[in-house]
Amino acid sequence: MKKLFGSLFGGSKKGPLSATIQPTGETFEVPKNNTLLQTALSEGVNFPYHCTVGTCGNCRCKLIEGDVKAIMDFSYTLSEAEIDEGYILACQALLKSDITIELEADAHTPNHPLETYKGKITATNMLTHDIAEVSVELDRAISFTAGQFADIGIEGFDRHRSYSFASAPVQGGQTSLTFHVRNVPGGSYTEWLFEKDRVGEAFELHGPSGAFWLRTSEEPILGVAGGSGMAPLKAILDEALANKIDRPVTYLFGARAQRDLYCLEEMKSLTEQWPNTFKFVPILSDEPEDSDWTGKRGLVTDFINDETTGFAVSDSHAYLCGPPGMIDATLVKLEEANISLDHIHYDKFLDSRQLESSN
Ligand SMILES: Cc1cc2nc3c(=O)[nH]c(=O)nc-3n(C[C@H](O)[C@H](O)[C@H](O)COP(=O)(O)OP(=O)(O)OC[C@H]3O[C@@H](n4cnc5c(N)ncnc54)[C@H](O)[C@@H]3O)c2cc1C
Ligand code: FES
Repeated sequence: MKKLFGSLFGGSKKGPLSATIQPTGETFEVPKNNTLLQTALSEGVNFPYHCTVGTCGNCRCKLIEGDVKAIMDFSYTLSEAEIDEGYILACQALLKSDITIELEADAHTPNHPLETYKGKITATNMLTHDIAEVSVELDRAISFTAGQFADIGIEGFDRHRSYSFASAPVQGGQTSLTFHVRNVPGGSYTEWLFEKDRVGEAFELHGPSGAFWLRTSEEPILGVAGGSGMAPLKAILDEALANKIDRPVTYLFGARAQRDLYCLEEMKSLTEQWPNTFKFVPILSDEPEDSDWTGKRGLVTDFINDETTGFAVSDSHAYLCGPPGMIDATLVKLEEANISLDHIHYDKFLDSRQLESSN
């Protein structure tokens, strides 16, 4: 295992320690007991993050030089392969020496203003027995990149919840948005939403956020989603089609049974508009054996192979979205398939318990 911590000389320097971010070369001093993320943000660095408590993985970056101390063990969120390659979580990293880290460079890093908007629910439409499309109208236009999410706050609730934009953005910004929200048993926001007609209800939206968007490349795209994880992937694919991106795409969508499948018309339309390029593969884990389902059965992870995708998984760029368990299992499979860790992007739909886990 690559050595991450405790170099012989780490921590011996007197005075403030410094962090340098590559490839931009930004350098700043990090006060004692401040995390790398905290300081980077206060220095105005455009650093990806969300939870700040070490669970979402958004602040993942590569330690190139120096030593850090983890407040909460990185292995709680990062895989063994990621740790072996030198990845750390900036929100959990305290400096033990001067450090250099590498942040993924991408010409299209979204730089939309992060602002708070007022909004109203304008419609809800059931997509499955437990997933609703929620349409909302904001007080002014928001810009975002497909794949990103927003934090929604409803008066009377303890804290916000995050929801991914479910359609491709409109150039120049938009006031109308849609989200796909799954009804979580025992969940406070979703029980409120599904309890009765909420059209006209007010909320606050803070966003856009997130580091889940389509990177520029020529390589094939492997999409993997489960449940309402459909939302950001659909947005990404809609945007890719609009931008005439011509890369092979295979999208594995995991659901329990046929009644949990949705957006099938949209997927059919993508297949027709992207002939020879786009393949949608729904996979059911709990469909009754004697049903009329003729498609794939099992877990999405059973189908991460070159035969199903039609391209070399090792050469692809993977985009994963949905329940944390599904994403963790998919990460293991992708690592076994030797896909470069830099080419794996994910958004875990963590709930309030996971986002509140404190350090
Ligand atoms: C980046 C991101 C994007 C997301 N995008 C989407 C999206 O597009 N669509 C979507 O549907 N979801 C999305 N989510 C998930 C979403 O933010 C909420 O977590 C989800 O809607 C559940 O919220 P809730 O208030 O209903 O549940 P919560 O109140 O947060 O409860 C979640 C679960 O915890 C249990 N629970 C709560 N408190 C306790 C307790 N004290 N003891 C034991 N169990 C407890 C509940 O029973 C429930 O099962 C996203 C999450 C993230 C982080
Ligand atoms: S912001 Fe660091 S893991 Fe979420």
